[in-house]
Amino acid sequence: MHDWHHLIREVADFPRPGIRFSDITPLLADARGLAAAIDAMAAPWRATRIDAVAGVESRGFIIGSALALSLGTGFVPIRKPGKLPARTLHEEYALEYGRDRLEIHADALSAGQRVLLVDDVLATGGTLVASVRLLRRLDVELVGVGVLVELDALHARTRWPHPDITLESALRY
Ligand code: PRP
Ligand code: MG
Repeated sequence: MHDWHHLIREVADFPRPGIRFSDITPLLADARGLAAAIDAMAAPWRATRIDAVAGVESRGFIIGSALALSLGTGFVPIRKPGKLPARTLHEEYALEYGRDRLEIHADALSAGQRVLLVDDVLATGGTLVASVRLLRRLDVELVGVGVLVELDALHARTRWPHPDITLESALRY
């Protein structure tokens, strides 16, 4: 498999001093690297029935729609405030830097559908924990959570509040 780990660039002090930003743009720009990274994210779920991939705005859209194509499912967006046109549900969450709110269309998924939740980076876990709360309100079956990169230093896995939901990362550092 094509080596893609070196295509994720660490940028110091962005967007604020003291924050180390994992920049996936070099990976997205590299055809073989991107394909290998999406393959690595899809691998744990190949034998699992999944009806839909849900991804979090904005970098989770890029990763999530590629993963949905790879797994043969549709894609459901979880968005930042005020972007979705129809009736929404929302959850507040704390970011590594700041506070925000996520929304999903109230009719985006049907009860019992088997959903894989994805994002690019697991840092503090705030984004994905809020996304799990949103999906649970739709009564879907959350098959698992997949991220491209897990930042071990922030210990989100240790503090992950859903022991019943498998958390898979393609790369940890
Ligand atoms: C980044 C990243 C993850 C989240 C991880 O998104 O893409 O979604 O932070 O952080 P957490 O685990 O501490 O919640 P961000 O909201 O910065 O915006 P973007 O995806 O629109 O770039
Ligand atoms: Mg994001």
